[in-house]
Amino acid sequence: MDSSAFNKYAMAFLATVFVVMTAGILSDFVFDSHAPEKPGFIIQAAEAGGEGEAGAPAAAAAVPIATLLASADATRGEAVFKRCQACHTGEKGGANKVGPNLWDIVDRPMATHEGFSYSGAIKDFSKGGKELWTFDHLNHFLTSPKAYIKGTAMGFAGDKKDNERADLIAYLRTLSDSPKPLPAADAAPAGGDKPADPAKPADAKPAEGAAPAPAK
Ligand code: HEC
Repeated sequence: MDSSAFNKYAMAFLATVFVVMTAGILSDFVFDSHAPEKPGFIIQAAEAGGEGEAGAPAAAAAVPIATLLASADATRGEAVFKRCQACHTGEKGGANKVGPNLWDIVDRPMATHEGFSYSGAIKDFSKGGKELWTFDHLNHFLTSPKAYIKGTAMGFAGDKKDNERADLIAYLRTLSDSPKPLPAADAAPAGGDKPADPAKPADAKPAEGAAPAPAK
């Protein structure tokens, strides 16, 4: 082979290497950018879920509602409730919209509001209306409706922020002629963000307000 032929092959080889490397770099770029820290719309679902779904619900509702309610604020909760009002009314005698009216929801038997046609999923969960919407059920349900009641027709992603959800539940409690007593926080709620509860050694709740740290 003469040298100009050799040069042609060498150039072809180098060009190939160049293309392959460029493609590699570009694909790194493309695939790296697919997992933003906070996908705009489903921020709250993504925070607790992280990369994998497993374990997320348990972590999300780790702090007992009694503890959360001890520092909740119904006035702030009223603002959070705006998100629900696309589908729910909160006034006494308010209409059913996409979802049932929520007057007196705390300790109301589940899936029993007059004139509303509930999904089979929530009716099953309610055990025929025997289950009540306790503070605890509300806390879990509103953290992630579809994780707590599989198949529910409620199209709301959930609110993973403990403080915000507690404010909301404190507000829901006020939608009543005689608000139910707040649940007693059995493990010293005041002072700390979480009670020292020896029964829950694996409770890895980070500082209030921060996203739960993904277990890497
Ligand atoms: C996109 C519409 C939509 C939004 C937003 C929504 N919900 Fe719902 N909600 C529903 C539907 C539909 C149901 C009935 C669920 C079923 O039948 O499975 C429901 C059911 C409920 C129930 C059970 C009521 C009962 O009578 O058993 C509660 C409690 C509730 N929603 C609270 C809330 C709260 C609080 C918010 C705001 C954080 C909210 N929902 C946001 C549509 C919505």
